[in-house]
Amino acid sequence: MAASLDGFIARRDGRVDWLETSDEYPAGVVMDEVFVEKFLETIDCYVMGSRTYETALAFEAKGMGWSYGDKPTFVLTHRELPRTRDSVEFHAGDLARFVNDRLRPAFRSVWFVGGGVVAGDCLRLGLADEVRYSMLPILIGDGIPFFGKLDRDIALHLAEATTYKSGVVELRYEVRGKPG
Ligand SMILES: NC(=O)c1ccc[n+]([C@@H]2O[C@H](COP(=O)([O-])OP(=O)(O)OC[C@H]3O[C@@H](n4cnc5c(N)ncnc54)[C@H](OP(=O)(O)O)[C@@H]3O)[C@@H](O)[C@H]2O)c1
Repeated sequence: MAASLDGFIARRDGRVDWLETSDEYPAGVVMDEVFVEKFLETIDCYVMGSRTYETALAFEAKGMGWSYGDKPTFVLTHRELPRTRDSVEFHAGDLARFVNDRLRPAFRSVWFVGGGVVAGDCLRLGLADEVRYSMLPILIGDGIPFFGKLDRDIALHLAEATTYKSGVVELRYEVRGKPG
């Protein structure tokens, strides 16, 4: 996910207005749209929490589009939410069983979109192989944390760091010492 330097992915009320920053870091690289598009093609399905889905629907309603194309998109929820396209499927229950028994056999690359509750669960349950963290040049003081409710240390290996002209630092970590 993209987060402020102080580790928040959204304000407490869900606003992400701070994602557009005006910093300039001349030594950084420019985001390569072709590379991003090629990378997105490697993702086989998306998983997101219901609050992230509701944000995505709100963005779409404002004319900002749907970011997940036709890829299967699994929304975790205990509620009845609007299903706006065939690619969306709802799931409730044990996340580890869902990922290991249902998603892993069917999809090579599973991208957890967020938010913080789901990112925290994913790491806590030892389901994540990688963490991708785009750190924005801003502090917002309070908000929804990137990783909700972790109850132990998660050791990481920094595998890649890219600094952009926009001041964004993109970090890719591999998760070390996964249980089992
Ligand atoms: N900056 C970024 O890159 C980025 C990326 C993604 C999201 N976000 C932001 O993050 C915010 C949402 O994050 P969040 O941490 O509040 O919520 P979230 O992780 O998106 O959703 C959490 C909700 O999903 C449902 N859920 C989670 N696990 C479940 C399971 N195993 N079974 C059934 N339901 C399950 C539960 O809600 P119910 O059962 O009540 O439906 C839970 O409260 C939004 O504001 C969004 O815009 C930011």
